[in-house]
Amino acid sequence: MTNETLNPQSNTPLPDYSLSPEGEQFSIPQAHDYRAEFEHIETLAQQARSEGKEIVVVMGVGFVGAVMAAIIADTENEKGESTKFVIGCQRPSTRSYWKIPLLNRGESPVKAEDPEVDEIIKRCVLEKKTLTATYNSECLKLADCVVVDVQCDYTKHDLGDMRSGETEMAALEETMRTIGRLIPPSCLVLIETTVAPGTTEFVAWPILKKAFAQRGIDVDPLLAHSFERVMPGKEYVSSIRDFWRVCAGCDDRARERVELFLREVLNTGDYPLTVMDRPIESETTKIVENSYRATILAFLNEWSMFAERNGVDLIKVIDAIKMRPTHSNIIFPGPGIGGYCLPKDGGLGYWAYRHILGFEDGDSIFKITPTVIDINDTRALHAAELTRDALRNMDRYIAGAEVLICGASYRQDVGDTRYSGSEMVARKLTEMGAEMRVHDPYVDHWYELENQDFYPSPELSWKQFFRNQEELKNIRVQKDLPKALKNVEAVILAVPHKSYLDLNPDDVVSWAGNPLAVIDCFGILPDDTIRRYFELGCEVKALGRGHVQRIKKEVQKQR
Ligand SMILES: NC(=O)c1ccc[n+]([C@@H]2O[C@H](COP(=O)([O-])OP(=O)(O)OC[C@H]3O[C@@H](n4cnc5c(N)ncnc54)[C@H](O)[C@@H]3O)[C@@H](O)[C@H]2O)c1
Repeated sequence: MTNETLNPQSNTPLPDYSLSPEGEQFSIPQAHDYRAEFEHIETLAQQARSEGKEIVVVMGVGFVGAVMAAIIADTENEKGESTKFVIGCQRPSTRSYWKIPLLNRGESPVKAEDPEVDEIIKRCVLEKKTLTATYNSECLKLADCVVVDVQCDYTKHDLGDMRSGETEMAALEETMRTIGRLIPPSCLVLIETTVAPGTTEFVAWPILKKAFAQRGIDVDPLLAHSFERVMPGKEYVSSIRDFWRVCAGCDDRARERVELFLREVLNTGDYPLTVMDRPIESETTKIVENSYRATILAFLNEWSMFAERNGVDLIKVIDAIKMRPTHSNIIFPGPGIGGYCLPKDGGLGYWAYRHILGFEDGDSIFKITPTVIDINDTRALHAAELTRDALRNMDRYIAGAEVLICGASYRQDVGDTRYSGSEMVARKLTEMGAEMRVHDPYVDHWYELENQDFYPSPELSWKQFFRNQEELKNIRVQKDLPKALKNVEAVILAVPHKSYLDLNPDDVVSWAGNPLAVIDCFGILPDDTIRRYFELGCEVKALGRGHVQRIKKEVQKQR
């Protein structure tokens, strides 16, 4: 090990390589590599500029930045000529460095169900040669435009109490300082990160202004905000390029520049751009639209409990309501509301009101947004209770039981596991003594569990909320369902992936080798299937589906 950086947890040296999700090792560049790297990037940029291309640096090539970088690099004029040269810039940390060499091979650092992700990255890197990646932030000196796609997290200190949390914006602030130190004065900086309202104008702009003043530059930095609405899944690329955007600039010049840029790189002809007066309005739009979505989901939690206890199938209730076009966006909440955005975005707004905008009455103003997040964050615990109860009804105990959770991702038919309800279920059941297994056709590694000591970070891991989590590090996602089911006592259908929708109860019981407890978290089981499980001697419990008890009684009567 040559790298002396210490792991803040263990105080031991961090490895001098970065490991890709596929297990490939990439050596972390050393100080003497930086100069040659910059010269290489500078040569590419000069060539591109001589061909009339604009140089765009995308800071952070994660879930959003990697794909946005490719979309920008794919931009062409009416003559079919490329108009942008894009440099994806990423910190060379042990956790993230691997994304750079992968991108430079024309491979996507993001695993997606949308085939266009791999295609567009390959095309831009290897064929059009309009996309490259580097770890050297000096590339900012070459930029006409910088797009910021680094993360801005919300750390929760207590499970089910988002009010005690805080915004973690160190990465964003550090990025802004680096940008201010290096960009040319006429460069447009576009923040795409979802931020606490006020961040662009009252945090980022002052950082850039201060850096410009230190450099003796006497013009205002050109700063704008336009948030992402990307949806991981089959329409990944389209959800960025062919989707409605909102933007705002800190002043008129920035507003004009950001409008022009977005009209060039996105399909604003079919999906019109909304231009707002100030960045705080664009920032607030993102927070409100996600809080609205989180609210609809949280609202159904109480009706889900009502339904379970009163013989009502909430799935049928929702289907009936959806017939009204005015109510068509009502959706069943499943075992918790995951994804990167909905669990945190309301927190950014609540926090900003006090810590950026300076108001002390946040707790009397914000009644719904914090409650909603707390409800969504803890809903999954009820799925663990149902598993315990189902086993109890079969005269078995959760402690020591072999339990298979089907689905690790946060929604159907995607491989994104960030803050999935399944994680909360697995953690709670592990705390209660269950031996967990996991199956998911879309997920290869469940990083939140396998790397729970440092991923996403020690403060952000849900591990902190539970006892006895150590064993979960060793969990491996299984792909063969019959094998995964062998000898399990309970199976939790946590995500409605396609392959779980038509499972035959006779097969499931025969693969398990015994009647088992079946927990349906997402309205996956049709009534006939539920009935068949009971006939086979299984116990069935389902979130929000009280009619299951009625089916059980019918089967018992027939016996
Ligand atoms: N992923 C989604 O589904 C989604 C949807 C809508 C909006 N967003 C928003 O987009 C933003 C980015 O999210 P993401 O999912 O891409 O996050 P991510 O964690 O996948 O990516 C962020 C990247 O930035 C890098 N980074 C951090 N500091 C850096 C620095 N100083 N210089 C260069 N790189 C740096 C990180 O290493 C990481 O690779 C967030 O604000 C998020 O809320 C995400």
